[in-house]
Amino acid sequence: MFENLKAQPADKILALMQMYKDDPRSDKIDLGVGVYKNAEGVTPVMRAVKAAEKIVWEQQESKSYTGLIGDPAYSDAMIKLILGDAVQRANVGAAATPGGTGACRQAFELIKMASPEARVFVSDPTWPNHISILNYLGMTMVPYRYFDADSRGVDFEGMLVDLGQARAGDVVLLHGCCHNPTGANLNLSQWREVVKLINAKGLVAMIDIAYQGFGDGLEEDAQGTRLVASSVKECLIAASCSKNFGVYRERTGLLMAVSQDSGQTALNQATLAFLNRQNYSFPPDHGARVVTTILNDDALRADWMAELEEIRLSMLGLRQQLADELQRLSGSDRFSFIAQHRGMFSRIGAAPELVEKLRTEFGIYMVGDSRMNIAGLNAQTVPILAKAIIDAGI
Ligand code: LMR
Repeated sequence: MFENLKAQPADKILALMQMYKDDPRSDKIDLGVGVYKNAEGVTPVMRAVKAAEKIVWEQQESKSYTGLIGDPAYSDAMIKLILGDAVQRANVGAAATPGGTGACRQAFELIKMASPEARVFVSDPTWPNHISILNYLGMTMVPYRYFDADSRGVDFEGMLVDLGQARAGDVVLLHGCCHNPTGANLNLSQWREVVKLINAKGLVAMIDIAYQGFGDGLEEDAQGTRLVASSVKECLIAASCSKNFGVYRERTGLLMAVSQDSGQTALNQATLAFLNRQNYSFPPDHGARVVTTILNDDALRADWMAELEEIRLSMLGLRQQLADELQRLSGSDRFSFIAQHRGMFSRIGAAPELVEKLRTEFGIYMVGDSRMNIAGLNAQTVPILAKAIIDAGI
């Protein structure tokens, strides 16, 4: 049997992580995988996470199974964090999942189960793992225009034209905020237009929200998602706590199925539980319990929000510093988009051979599509990167 296995294409982001690890240069700079690093290059355990872990350690009396959907208190706290008062709790079915990837995977499986003919419209570009999982599940994918290569902003006209080709029942996959890989985001009036189109054509919205709090703020980053959830007939929302709680390895995600018809919720909920059972039975609990502890404790929540805000502002500062430095070196404002993008990533729009040159000649690692992780920089490495970008001829 094993001889029938074929080598699978390597995940580009994870392959880059390995290349960086293997590079002996001491001045190498990692702008690859989407992991936050502070000015010392460390991915810290957030203060509130440490404190909550202590509470869990002291108070937890059993490691027996939770439920198939995880602890309902986790769903309650996360639904409140993401959706605020946009929808009634009774309209949301939810299940804990292993990270945001687990939530996406379960969402795609639910779509396949409920609507095998549905095509999934994905932004061009999107997070490569969306494409990989959809391909693996044999689902039909249609790219829609999203990134304007000239302005490095959103090609909104192109996006509407392409989504206009969708048929009733097709799914539109949107990034809730901090678009990965481009850093270019819809504004609220553009979200409104998209909602109008979804409703006019009878499409199904799916939102992947993995960076809430990394863009314009916790509330601001959820606005698009809240608008969709409160205005469409039904939608799926895949959320991750990996980045905003810094609990990457704990695999802490949530899938929500929101319906205007609360009579649908019990079935949605049961379906999410069923899908969890088929794939891994019970979702991981530790990260979810830590997140719940933080969100339900005023002091811990305030401290978490303060640290998240420090992280957000540090990334904004690095964006501005890089844009300013590039303006100084290039004598033009062609890199000003870096300060306008939001979240961890910016796609700088460099050709693959120039990205390769940055890696081989300058020891600077970014994903081949020229996505860089802003959080991989610090005040000292920004001028080094800016000079390398200009010297490489980008
Ligand atoms: C990324 O895009 O770099 C992160 O979401 C990590 C991953 O799993 O790809």
